[in-house]
Amino acid sequence: MVRVVFTPSGHQGELDAGITALEAARILGVDLDTVCGGRAICGRCQVQVATGSFAKWGITVGPDALSAPTSSETNARVKRPLQAGNRLGCMAHIQNDIVIDVPAESQVHRQVVRKSVDLTGVVVDPFVALSFVTVTSVDDGRSAVELLRSALRARHGDVGVDPRALPHLVQALHREGGDVTAAVRDGVVVAVWPGFVDTMVGVAVDIGSTTIAAHLCDLSSGEVLATAGRMNPQIRFGEDLMSRVSYVMMNPGGDVELTLAVRAALDELISELTDQAGLARNAVLEIVLVGNPVMHHLLLGYDPVPLGQSPFTLATNEPVVGSASALGLDLPFATFYVGPCIAGHVGADTTAAMLAEGPHRGSEWQLLVDVGTNAEIVLGNRDRQFAASSPTGPAFEGAQLTCGQRATAGAIERVRIDPSTLAPRIRVIGVEQWSDEPGFAAAVAKTGVTGICGSGIIEVIAEMYLAGVIDQDGVVDGSLAARTSHVIPDGRTFTYVLHDDGERRIVVTQNDVRAIQLGKAALRAGIDLLIDHAGATDVHDIRLAGAFGAHIDPLHAMVLGLVPDCPLDGVRSVGNAAGGGAVRALLSRSLRSELEDAARRVVKIETATEPRFQELFVQAMAFPHAAAPTPNLAALVTLPPRREVAADGGRRRRPGRPERGGRSDDVVSAELIHLEPTPSTQPTLSTLSADPTQGPPT
Ligand code: FES
Repeated sequence: MVRVVFTPSGHQGELDAGITALEAARILGVDLDTVCGGRAICGRCQVQVATGSFAKWGITVGPDALSAPTSSETNARVKRPLQAGNRLGCMAHIQNDIVIDVPAESQVHRQVVRKSVDLTGVVVDPFVALSFVTVTSVDDGRSAVELLRSALRARHGDVGVDPRALPHLVQALHREGGDVTAAVRDGVVVAVWPGFVDTMVGVAVDIGSTTIAAHLCDLSSGEVLATAGRMNPQIRFGEDLMSRVSYVMMNPGGDVELTLAVRAALDELISELTDQAGLARNAVLEIVLVGNPVMHHLLLGYDPVPLGQSPFTLATNEPVVGSASALGLDLPFATFYVGPCIAGHVGADTTAAMLAEGPHRGSEWQLLVDVGTNAEIVLGNRDRQFAASSPTGPAFEGAQLTCGQRATAGAIERVRIDPSTLAPRIRVIGVEQWSDEPGFAAAVAKTGVTGICGSGIIEVIAEMYLAGVIDQDGVVDGSLAARTSHVIPDGRTFTYVLHDDGERRIVVTQNDVRAIQLGKAALRAGIDLLIDHAGATDVHDIRLAGAFGAHIDPLHAMVLGLVPDCPLDGVRSVGNAAGGGAVRALLSRSLRSELEDAARRVVKIETATEPRFQELFVQAMAFPHAAAPTPNLAALVTLPPRREVAADGGRRRRPGRPERGGRSDDVVSAELIHLEPTPSTQPTLSTLSADPTQGPPT
C-alpha cells in the first residue's frame, strides 16, 4: 500500500501500489478530467508531482514515486500535448508515497480564467461530458447502440442514447475504425462524432426587444470564444413590446411571423458565432436563452396576448428545456434551456441578471435596475427579494424625443451646462474632444452632430435642472430667453438649444423634458414601491444594468432622481447583466439551480394594482424628488432651492416667485396625473396627461 495525497483538493488515502494516478483520482473522488478514458489520447489528465518532504502531509516523495515516463506519454498522438514537468495521470503508475497536484487545466470544475464577460468566481460545472471510446463491431448480433453502451459503461454506467445521435453513431462506426467521441448528458448520449473530439461549446443568448446578444463558450474551460449581436428583426412589427403584442392581436398568424423572425435571427447569429470560433455547428451542445416575457413567449411559440392584459398570465414561469431543433435551430445535438420567469412583466432576463449580480446573496440590500421601455427592478438581500416592472416608456432610449436617437456615432452622449452663461458643452460618440476643445469641429465633421442618445438625455436634463433652465417641476424657464440665446420660445412653451451648427439644431423641448419626467417617475415609483414593501433602509448598492445603464453617469442619474439618494460610489453600471447570467447558467449546473431557486423565491409586486404606485409616481415627478431627502447628492452638487411641497404631493407657489413665460398658473395639482390602473391594462405612459401648456404634473 502507498499513501496518496491529491492537491489542491486534499483528498487522500492508502491505495494499492501500481495503480495509475487517474485510477487513484477516481477512487478518492478527485476532480481529474478525461475524455479518452485513460488511453493516452486526450491529454486532459495531466498531473504534476514534486519530490521532497511535505510536512503538511507527513510524506517524503522520492524520484521513484511514479513509474518512469513511457513513449505513450510523449507520443504525438496525445491531443493536448504534455506541459513541461507534467505526467499523464492515466499512464503514470504510483509506486511509492506521493503528493499529486492537479493543475486547474486538468480539473473538470475549474475557475473561468478569461473574462471578456465578467465571470468572476464562476466555476465551470458542465452538463455534458465527452468520452472517446472505440466501439468494436463483433459478430454477436449486438446493435450499434448496445456496442456503444458497453464501451461507455466503465465511465458512465448504463446510458441511454438520444434518437438524434443515432444516425451519427451508425455513420461514425464505419469510420475511423470504430473510434468515436460521445457526449453524455444526464446519463444519455446526446451526440456522437467519428474520431476524437475534445471541444464542446454552448451558446448563451439574451433576446432583448431591440437587440439580441450572444456568446459562444467552451463548456469545458468556460472561455468565451466568440461574441456577436444583431438587431431583433421583430422591430419591423413594432418598436416596443406592447406594439408587438398588438400586432399579434390585430393580425391572425402574426405570432407565427414574430416567432419565425426571432428564430431565424438566432440561427444566423449562431452561424456567425461558430464561424468566428472556427467550429462546426454540431459542436454546440447547449444553448441558454433569456429574455423578457414577451420575447420568451414569442421564441417558444406561445401566445403573447395574455401578457398584454391583466392579469398578465404567463404560459409558464418555469424553465423550459428541449431539443434545439424544436426551435427550428440547425443544431443537431444541442439542448436548449430557457430560463424561468417571475411574472407577466418580469422575465427570464431579470432572473438571469439576478444570477449575475446576486441581489439574493448578500446581507445588505441590493437594488438592481434594468432600464428599457419597461424597467425591471429587483430589490433583495439574502433573506428576501422583491421584483417589479415599471412602464418607463421609450424616452430613455431616445425614442419619441425631438432629437433623440440611438447611441451611434454623432449622438451627443455627454453634456455640461455653465450655470452662469447657460452655454452647453457636449461630447459626441466617436469624438474624443469636448465641443469647447481644439479639434472638435474637425473631428466631428465626418459624422456631424446628429441627435442625443439615452445617456446624453439624462445628462442634459440633469444639467438643465442644475443650471436653473428647468425648475423642480421640469418647466423650462422662459424668462431666461432674455438672457441667453439657448432658451427660445416654442409656441406656448420654451425650448433649450443644445447645439446649433448652422446645419442642424439639436434641442430639448418642454415636451421632451416631460417625457423624461414621466419615464423617470415611473421607474422611481417602482423602486420606491419595492423599498416600501421590503421596509428597506440604507439601500447603498444600486446596479444599473442593460445597454442604457452601461453608459449612464451615476451623478446625473441621481440629480434626476432616477435612483434613490445614496453615496455616489454605491451606484454603478453593470452592463448586460442578463447576458452575463445566461453565460453562468450555460457553464454551471449549480448556478442554473441557483437561478431557478432565486426565481421561485422572489416576491412579485404588481405596479398595476398597487394603490400606492400613483402617489409615489406623483412624488417622483419632481427633480430629484418631491419628498425624499437627498443629503448625499447635496454634498456633491449645489442643488437649486427646493420648493414647498404640499402633503398630497401638489406644489404650492413659492412666495415671491414670478410667473414664468408661457405659464398661466404655477400651482399644479397632482390630479393632472392620471395613472389609474385599469382592469385590463398595466399603467402605461400613454395614460398620463402631459400637456406642457397645462403645466407640470407634480
Ligand atoms: Fe486521456 Fe489520460 S485520460 S490522456
